[in-house]
Amino acid sequence: MRGSTIAGIGHYVPERVLTNAELERLIDTTDEWIVTRTGIRERRVAADDQASSDLGLEAAREAMADAGVRAEDLDLIIVGTATPDMLFPATACVLQDRLGAKRAGAFDLSAACSSWVYGVAVAHGYVSSGLAETVLVVGAETLSKITNWKDRSTCVLFGDSAGAVVVRPSEPGQGFLSFYLGADGGGAALISQPAGGSRLPASYETVERAQHTLHMNGREVYKFAVRIIPRAIEEAVSRAGLTLADVDLFIPHQANIRIIDAAAKRLGQPREKFFVNVERYGNTSSASVPVALYEAVRAGLIHRGDLAVLVAFGGGLTWGSTALRWTK
Ligand code: ACO
Repeated sequence: MRGSTIAGIGHYVPERVLTNAELERLIDTTDEWIVTRTGIRERRVAADDQASSDLGLEAAREAMADAGVRAEDLDLIIVGTATPDMLFPATACVLQDRLGAKRAGAFDLSAACSSWVYGVAVAHGYVSSGLAETVLVVGAETLSKITNWKDRSTCVLFGDSAGAVVVRPSEPGQGFLSFYLGADGGGAALISQPAGGSRLPASYETVERAQHTLHMNGREVYKFAVRIIPRAIEEAVSRAGLTLADVDLFIPHQANIRIIDAAAKRLGQPREKFFVNVERYGNTSSASVPVALYEAVRAGLIHRGDLAVLVAFGGGLTWGSTALRWTK
């Protein structure tokens, strides 16, 4: 089988910056609490008229320009999101139309914060098997739209952004070297948006109880994250036939600086090998890893031939990791 790689990458963050100081005025919290517990200083918030597809469209256009591909070259569009424009049709179909990607199939992928990593694993399967030549994988989120702005235990954590990549064929041994995807549905209740689906359809009561917003057991998710990130990183590295010492840069899901610190410590790896931008964006769910990868590349932290390990975890519970030999 041939390999697959990232041929182009793009990102988009909304203009509006929401600082911890502003949150201090909205809810009973402090900049000090947020920074020491999470590392987050500010996050981006989409405008009222911006949906996830609007963010995803900007990221997709940049990724396609970076890869030098046109809309008609796309065989498949995968959008990872926990905040689709609507339950259906898929946000990927909205993007397909707006890009004018007439030949492309399009679907959304739901694995919460792990969706984009799951998405590139699917794209790798299509491209390496020859089923597709060019796949667009987008992680696009507007968590601010499902945030309960009265719940201080969650509203300080999340932000809005989008990241996108174009996946194309590569030589074997280049690009994506391994994937590891996992799930534990037993932890489904730990992070959820309980209402609006078929289990709890929208009603006046569900709105009154704020059941259309994100609910989370932060402490349990924290324990899960600290356990799963090192395991997922080790698995991706060993499946690629490599060791941790071969890794140039780790790109973890940006949820909480303490989770990243703990993962580095457990793995015995220097913290400088972990890319961090959580202080500027908070947790942007499926967009978090591609936006971090984008910034790491643009900052010159990843060069052609370098090995990066990308790792995400999130609702489901889900997790996913990949070892990536950078080819651009
Ligand atoms: N400001 C001030 N105090 C607060 C705030 C706030 N914003 N939020 C909570 N507190 C209080 C709590 O009420 C609690 O007070 P109490 O002791 O009087 O009850 C106290 O702070 C400590 O609360 P904890 O929940 O124990 O705080 P903890 O140190 O565990 O940090 C946090 C909470 C930051 C949420 C942490 O648990 C965490 O990061 N968890 C992981 C979350 C995560 O990564 N989620 C993303 C998953 S991905 C996805 O799919 C969405």
